[in-house]
Amino acid sequence: MADNKIKFFELNTGAKIPSVGLGTYGAKHGVLQNTVISAIKVGYRHIDCASMYNNEKEVGFALKKVFSESMVKRQDVWVTSKLWCTDHLPEDVPKALHKTLQDLQIDYVDLYLIHWPVSAKRGAIAVKGESLTQPDIPATWKAMEALYDSGKAKAIGVSNFSAKKLGDLLEVARIPPAVNQVELHPVWQQPKLHEFCKSKGIHLSGYSPLGSQSGENVRKKVLDNPFVKMVAREVGKSPAQVSLRWGLQMGHSVLPKSISEARLKENLDVFNWFIPQELLPTFSHIDQEKLIRGEALVDETYGAYKTLEELWDGEI
Ligand code: A2P
Repeated sequence: MADNKIKFFELNTGAKIPSVGLGTYGAKHGVLQNTVISAIKVGYRHIDCASMYNNEKEVGFALKKVFSESMVKRQDVWVTSKLWCTDHLPEDVPKALHKTLQDLQIDYVDLYLIHWPVSAKRGAIAVKGESLTQPDIPATWKAMEALYDSGKAKAIGVSNFSAKKLGDLLEVARIPPAVNQVELHPVWQQPKLHEFCKSKGIHLSGYSPLGSQSGENVRKKVLDNPFVKMVAREVGKSPAQVSLRWGLQMGHSVLPKSISEARLKENLDVFNWFIPQELLPTFSHIDQEKLIRGEALVDETYGAYKTLEELWDGEI
């Protein structure tokens, strides 16, 4: 491998996205601000946010502190945020980014993503059932392109898009998406989506790279997987590090979350070693299972997708 470090991936915009970012979903209120500051101190240069996480203000306090105290410069930190499903109407897209920028206390994001290919009524509290509406992705994307043109979003992309939905978007996009952010880890590897994105110059970024979005049981499926543990023993690293390093070697950026300083450091210690080529086939023995499926976003009566099959276009 030419670049064992894999500190960045180059996007189709020419920008370099740091390969390990801090995930911020579900972080307990009151804790996240310190977590972000600790992460910056231990070397993270990529923070993954979303308005839906309802904590961008806390991230903003942390960013304000690290920039104003010159711990790091704005241009050296990659900040991603996401457009929530209730803000898909073209006239709402710039307002949503404006609110995110205000909360984060910055004047541009490095990457802005359509969070899901799902839309809901403006102002809806819960994106499910009768609040679901018919998404018009081409119209929403046009509004995203305008944000790119304005310089307020230095790159634009999508999240939770199947290869089919990405293909449809590519047919109408003036500016192709730079990134598709999806669930990615050794238990949900998505080789076909990876191939598709690679062929189109779209970078794949992995959320929940340790398999955890909703508690102990979910995480155990990845970190307790016998094949992941076997590779970890072979290389003398933790299962979490192996899961992250596997992602980097597959060409994905990874967005692990942690509130513990020790684990923040552990999750960033993935550059000065690698999984040898002969161990990579071990990962193909792992039974595949999508852990985050978006059940609430499908509905027999409302919205665009009656079943999970339709939401993911049969790719799960
Ligand atoms: P904690 O915040 O206490 O470290 P994911 O990024 O896949 O969503 O996983 C996040 C979850 O995994 C959090 O519950 C986090 O707990 C835990 N976690 C983060 N890093 C590690 C690690 N290196 N080893 C074990 N668990 C981890």
